Amino acid sequence: MNSPIIAPSLLAANHGEFALGIKAIEEAGLKWVHLDIMDGHFVPNISFGPQVVADLRSRTKLHFDVHLMLQNPDRYIAPFIKAGSETITVHVEADHDVAKTLKTIKDAGVQVGIAMNPDCDPKRLLPYLDSVDLVLCMTVFPGFGGQSFMPSVLESIKFLSNERKNRGLNFRLEVDGGINTETGLQCRAAGADTLVAGTAFYKAPDRRAFIAGLTA
Ligand code: DX5
Ligand code: ZN
Repeated sequence: MNSPIIAPSLLAANHGEFALGIKAIEEAGLKWVHLDIMDGHFVPNISFGPQVVADLRSRTKLHFDVHLMLQNPDRYIAPFIKAGSETITVHVEADHDVAKTLKTIKDAGVQVGIAMNPDCDPKRLLPYLDSVDLVLCMTVFPGFGGQSFMPSVLESIKFLSNERKNRGLNFRLEVDGGINTETGLQCRAAGADTLVAGTAFYKAPDRRAFIAGLTA
């Protein structure tokens, strides 16, 4: 059983002051930051690109958990690797040869993840489970922070968690979207061990207490 990791999403921080958003994560004693990259095609929003990631890299040792919400991920893998990403996750629904993209990332010595939207049949991920370090179950439709958690995804999390156990695999099982203390604990009970929290982390009156509630 992997120990839980909380990865705050910088998307919910002030975009004019990302360095402060990073500092808040470090001060809370966490080790990961989740970086949401959106292209305005795969999702109806644009966030930030490899230059921002590279500039943040020089300011922190946090693990860069990069979530690519891009219609054409292959075009941007190299710049995000160069920018210092440590885990790169691509969506199964995007336009690419999934196995090939995963291999490109892995061969570059970067950890690789596969993501699925809330309405995706988790069986679609089966061919990739033995070649990834992380599986990301979106618990909202990606594009924006601050949305409500979709409990229907708990079944997919359970399915993937069982698959991991039955096949003796040890990828991290990550959830992303609408995660707060209540929904985060539901996801952990279903088998998730890596929790992305944007709004709930940055708005928490006591961030250390928020983290303690999720990792109990
Ligand atoms: C959604 C992003 C999420 C999101 C999480 O497209 O992938 O990482 O920012 O934010 P909250 O926790 O606010 O739902
Ligand atoms: Zn994300």
